[in-house]
Amino acid sequence: MEPFLRALPKVELHLHIEGSLEPELMFALAERNGVALPYASVKEAKAAYDFDDLQGFLDLYYQGMSVLLHERDFFDLAMDYFRRASAEGVVHIDMHFDPQAHLQRGVALDIVMRGLLAAKEEAERSLDLSVGMIMAFLRDRPAEEALEVLELAKPYWQRLDAIGLDSAERDHPPTKFVALFARAKEIGLARVAHAGEEGPAAYISQALDDLDVCRIDHGVRCLEDEALIARLREQQTVLTVCPLSNVALKVVDDLRQHPLPRLLDEGLNITISSDDPAYFGGGLLTNHLACAEAFGWDEKVFEQLNRNALAEAFMDDARRAILL
Ligand code: HPA
Ligand code: ZN
Repeated sequence: MEPFLRALPKVELHLHIEGSLEPELMFALAERNGVALPYASVKEAKAAYDFDDLQGFLDLYYQGMSVLLHERDFFDLAMDYFRRASAEGVVHIDMHFDPQAHLQRGVALDIVMRGLLAAKEEAERSLDLSVGMIMAFLRDRPAEEALEVLELAKPYWQRLDAIGLDSAERDHPPTKFVALFARAKEIGLARVAHAGEEGPAAYISQALDDLDVCRIDHGVRCLEDEALIARLREQQTVLTVCPLSNVALKVVDDLRQHPLPRLLDEGLNITISSDDPAYFGGGLLTNHLACAEAFGWDEKVFEQLNRNALAEAFMDDARRAILL
C-alpha cells in the first residue's frame, strides 16, 4: 500500500502553514532571529507535543510562531513544507494562515503576505505544486478585529482564494462572525470555517446557514445530528477531516475509533488532510498510511478521497483538468 499511496497524486484542503513548522526549523529560525525558546533541544520540543485538547495545542502553536519575524522566515516556513509535501506526492495544498497571530506580535501583514506569496510562486514554478491561499481569522479574538484585518488586507484580496475561521472553537460560535463573512462574500472571496471539531454539531449548521461556507473544516461531530447528516449528504458539502489531528487533540481516543468509516458510509463528501503536520505526527502521506492501517481501506477509497479534494480545491480549472 505504501508505494501506491506515495505515488497517488494527493490534494490537501486543510493545512495551517504555521502548524507545519518543524522543531528543527523552529530552532534554526530562533537562532537566526535571536529568539529564546522554552525548549533546550528539538527532542525536548517534540516531547512537549503531548496535548489534552485543542487549547493545549493552540498554546504551543502560538508560542512556536514567535520565531517568524521576517519575510524570509515565512518563505522558508512554507517552502520547507512544500518541498516535503511535494516529495510525498502532494500536488495541491489549500493553505490556511493566521495574520492576527502575527499582527499581535508586531509582525506586519506585508511581511506575512510577501513571504507566503513568494513561496506559493516558487512552489508552483519549481515543484509543480499549486497552492490556495486561505486567510484565517481567530474566533477567540473580537469580531471587530477580524473585520479590520480583512480591510487591512485590501491590497491582497486579489491574491486570496478564501477566508477561514480557526482557533479555539468552544464558546466562539460561527454567528459571532456573520459580518466578517458577509463582507468576504461581498469582496468575492470563498468562505470556509472550522466547525464540529470540539464544538457541537450546531456550529456546523450555523456555519452553513449564517456564514454561507462552501466547506466545513473537520466537521466530525455532524454525526450527532441526523438532520444535519442528511443535509450534508444532500448538499455534498466537503468535510476536510484530519484523522491524526483528531487523535492528537483527543477528539477521538485512537484512530480505530475514528468516525471516518461511518462518515463515508453515510455518503458524505469526505477528504483527508493533516491540519498541523509538525505537531500531530506527520503530513498528508502519513495520514493516508495511518488510515490504510486503521481502516483497511483499499486503493479505490483513497482515489475517491483525493478526487473529492481535487474537485473542491482552490485551483484553476485548467490545472484541475490536467490532474483529473
Ligand atoms: N483547530 C482550530 N484552530 C487551529 C487548528 C485546529 O486544528 N490548527 C491551527 N489552528
Ligand atoms: Zn485546522
